[in-house]
Amino acid sequence: MRLAVLVSGSGTNLQALLDAVDAGGAPFEVVVVGADRDGTGGAERAAARGVPTFVCRVPDFDSRADWDAALARLLAEHSPDLVVSAGFMKVLGPEVLAGVRVVNTHPALLPSFPGAHGVRDALAHGVRVTGCTCHWVDDGVDTGPIIDQRAVRVEDGDTLESLHERIKVEERRMLVEVLTHLAADRSWR
Ligand code: GRF
Repeated sequence: MRLAVLVSGSGTNLQALLDAVDAGGAPFEVVVVGADRDGTGGAERAAARGVPTFVCRVPDFDSRADWDAALARLLAEHSPDLVVSAGFMKVLGPEVLAGVRVVNTHPALLPSFPGAHGVRDALAHGVRVTGCTCHWVDDGVDTGPIIDQRAVRVEDGDTLESLHERIKVEERRMLVEVLTHLAADRSWR
C-alpha cells in the first residue's frame, strides 16, 4: 500500500511508519511526505530516509481552492493508495478528497475535543480519560467515520506536554496497526 504522509510538525507519527517499514514486514511503504510549511521535522525525517518530500504552503496561492488543487496534483504525482494526515494542521479541500482516501490521527477521543487543540481542551475540561482517534477524513473538522481509538488516563499533575507525549505513544502504535489492517482489507477503496 503506497502511503503519502502529510505533516506540519515534528513527524514522530511519520517516523513510526518509517520504522515499521524498516523493521520489515510492514504491508505499506511511504512514497512521499508533504508539508504545509518549511522546516518541519517531518520533512527532515523523510529526507534522512531518502523519501521524496514537497512543501505546499497556503500563502503561496491566491486562494485556498488553488492550494487544494496544487496539493491534489502534488499527491497524485506519487500515485498513493492512501493519504495519512499525521499531525497535518490544515483542513483538506474537495479536490484532494475527491482524488484519494485520507486517514487522520487526532490526539483526543472524538467526537469529544475536535480541532487543533484536542489535548489542551480535554485537559481544561477535566476529563480523567482521553486518548487518540484514527478516522477517515471527510469535509468537516475531525468528523469522519472512526476507524480506531486508544484510551489514555489523565494523571494528577499532568501538563499539556506530559499528557500529549503519553497520547502520542499510543497514537503511533494505533496508526501503524490501523494502516497494517487497511493494507490487508482493501474494501475501503
Ligand atoms: C499528534 O499528536 C497529532 O495528532 C497532532 O499533532 C501531533 C503531531 O505529532 N495533531 P508528530 O508531528 O507526528 O510528532
